[in-house]
Amino acid sequence: MGLDKLVIHGGKPLEGTILINGAKNSALVLLAGALLAPEESVITNVPNLADVGVISEVLTRIGVRVHMDLAAHTVRVDAADLTDTPPPYDLVTKMRASFFILGPILARLGYARIPLPGGCSIGSRPVDLHLKGLRSLGAKITIEHGYVEAQADKLIGGPVYLDYPSVGATETIMMAACLAEGTTVIDNCAQEPEIVDLAEMLVKMGAKISGAGTQTITVEGVRRLNGTAHECIPDRIEAGTFMVAAAVTRGRLKLTRVRADHMQAVISKLQEAGVGIQVEANGDIVVDGTGEFHPIDLRTLPYPGFPTDLQSQLMTFLSLVPGTSMVTETVFENRFMHVDELQRMGGNIKTEGNCAVIQGVENLTGAPVKATDLRAGAAMILAGLAARGETVVSNVHHIDRGYEDIVGKLSAVGAQISRLHRAEALV
Ligand code: EPZ
Repeated sequence: MGLDKLVIHGGKPLEGTILINGAKNSALVLLAGALLAPEESVITNVPNLADVGVISEVLTRIGVRVHMDLAAHTVRVDAADLTDTPPPYDLVTKMRASFFILGPILARLGYARIPLPGGCSIGSRPVDLHLKGLRSLGAKITIEHGYVEAQADKLIGGPVYLDYPSVGATETIMMAACLAEGTTVIDNCAQEPEIVDLAEMLVKMGAKISGAGTQTITVEGVRRLNGTAHECIPDRIEAGTFMVAAAVTRGRLKLTRVRADHMQAVISKLQEAGVGIQVEANGDIVVDGTGEFHPIDLRTLPYPGFPTDLQSQLMTFLSLVPGTSMVTETVFENRFMHVDELQRMGGNIKTEGNCAVIQGVENLTGAPVKATDLRAGAAMILAGLAARGETVVSNVHHIDRGYEDIVGKLSAVGAQISRLHRAEALV
């Protein structure tokens, strides 16, 4: 898998309908949230992604019974026999979201020892806000030999202020607070749809949570949670990626099983740039990339601002929009690695710190490029779909982490894209 490559021949407008899968950044934390109950939960609309496989492997290593039926997009998690065995270092560093199990294990067992997730290509990805929040609930936290050790006979609810509306820290603290004694108020918390999805599942499990989706979440601790059944929300980032695919290929795509209400910033910025976007009565989104495009300025922000996970994809689009556009990345410190790759395809982009100035060009030209992270990889696929000639994208394993069957979905709407497997890719 690691050496697989994608071969794309660009220039064809995409036409057709794409079904959007469940959200990776919801499914991963829902699986962790299921640990809070000593009985089975069933999570549906789980995307069939490498990352889901990794977190399921992590859960099985800590005594959780996991039954994955990813063809049916369903995972059953039974944490009755949860243990405080530290999960393997290599698995946690491979997928940062494994760190989400810290809060639930600590809340259930009073002790947890989890490897510190490393940084990744887009930034150092510290977890200080997660740990500060757990300390506010009375946990004793030490960090040594690359592990976080957390201990609390009883978590005590209380006020938590997040210096930054961190998605992961909000999720960690909200999960731990469910089983704390008393009430926790999390201020300046993240408001992403994935937070709301997690809160809805936890409430179905018996938690007492209010305010999810606003900047203040209140959790009243309870003694025990029960198993439940929960359907994961659609993936707004996958949907946004395919919206850009329609724009860069001058095509027309209909996206189904998608939540337009989770995508206001994305829809508004694409419309501002001249992309036609209609939300139909049944919720489907029709994207028309045949109009005249205009340059825009974009600033990534915590939700409901423009999502950082669509920044690289929009930059591919803007590199083809006549005029000067500007992109400012305010969430991560190193999320412009796709710029070098786009420049190799003829993109005219200059970066200064966390700002990029893009001069639109007539065409991109196909080239061998690499996926430097999950979303930059998606941006390279989009560039290949628009470019003249052949583009070969390497390091495809990054893309497999966040996009289910992207080759199949794009081929079905007219893209000339295929996967070169390891053996073939080596020749
Ligand atoms: C989640 O990561 C997503 N991942 C990311 O998606 C997404 O980009 C990010 O939220 C922002 O929306 C999952 O949900 C699995 P943060 P997370 O904590 O929780 C700093 C993708 O491509 N920070 O909101 O790690 C941090 O360094 C991935 O699907 C601290 O300083 O994001 C960053 O600069 C990439 N201390 C900023 O906050 C902390 O304790 C936002 O991070 C935590 C975060």
